[in-house]
Amino acid sequence: MTRLLQIQDSPVPNFDRKPFSIQHHLAENPLFALERLLLLARRLRSERAEFYSGNVPVDASPEQTPSTGFSLEETIRRIESSCVWVVLKNVEQDPEYKELLDRCLDEVAEVHAPALQGASDRVGFIFISSARAVTPCHLDPEHNFLLQIRGAKTIHVADRSSLAQRELERYFTGGHRNVDLPEELKTRAAQFTLSPGDGVHVPFTSPHWVVNGDELSVSFSITFQTPESRRKALVHKVNAHLRRAGMTPKPPGRSPLGDACKVLGFRTVRRARRLLRHVTPGAATQA
Ligand SMILES: [Fe+2]
Repeated sequence: MTRLLQIQDSPVPNFDRKPFSIQHHLAENPLFALERLLLLARRLRSERAEFYSGNVPVDASPEQTPSTGFSLEETIRRIESSCVWVVLKNVEQDPEYKELLDRCLDEVAEVHAPALQGASDRVGFIFISSARAVTPCHLDPEHNFLLQIRGAKTIHVADRSSLAQRELERYFTGGHRNVDLPEELKTRAAQFTLSPGDGVHVPFTSPHWVVNGDELSVSFSITFQTPESRRKALVHKVNAHLRRAGMTPKPPGRSPLGDACKVLGFRTVRRARRLLRHVTPGAATQA
């Protein structure tokens, strides 16, 4: 049977280090027809979607990223006559999309077992974007295989080492995903122009931005966590607290023992807070 997702290199030398091209066979799948996506949007709970104007600069701040002013369904209906983008989140909650997502990741795991060792939290996103819509520079907290289904788009992926630790700590303690990258770092970003059948791996927290082509675009984003990504996220959270306390914490990966202590400390405090909340309702908010 033909594999839905094809990654050329085996093993994947750049997984979670650098972006790389992939190929797929999902472009003809009827689950991504606009009418099916409208039905999916109707079934998803309202907080499982975001929709914004796509008429924004690449370095737009959260305040410069306005909503479309329409409902989710109306935004999708107007997708070809306006400049907007929509993301449907957690599409794996729908059995048909879950089956597709699982099949793709199971295939990758079969061929590239080390890259996906201990992988969990499989989550699917579907992006529907108008012609020339821009998704501002941002980061995401997961490993991502972005697959182009319809239309074309150009994605720029910057090296995550170009991000200041403070930016990552800000994000992992509730900050907005948009990040402002200096111009010289933007010019060094890898660029991928995706047509139906193409895809790209976007490593965990690598800053990226997207400029849509001249027609409506649909993309399927397959994401997951690994033990490494979960550990890094926790270390960034702990580092944010340490920095607020006047310390200069080491970024994740610099000291395996230090990282392990931070993760253990974080989990112990979280467990204690849960216990406290259970024993004395309201106490956790005072902790
Ligand atoms: Fe993204």
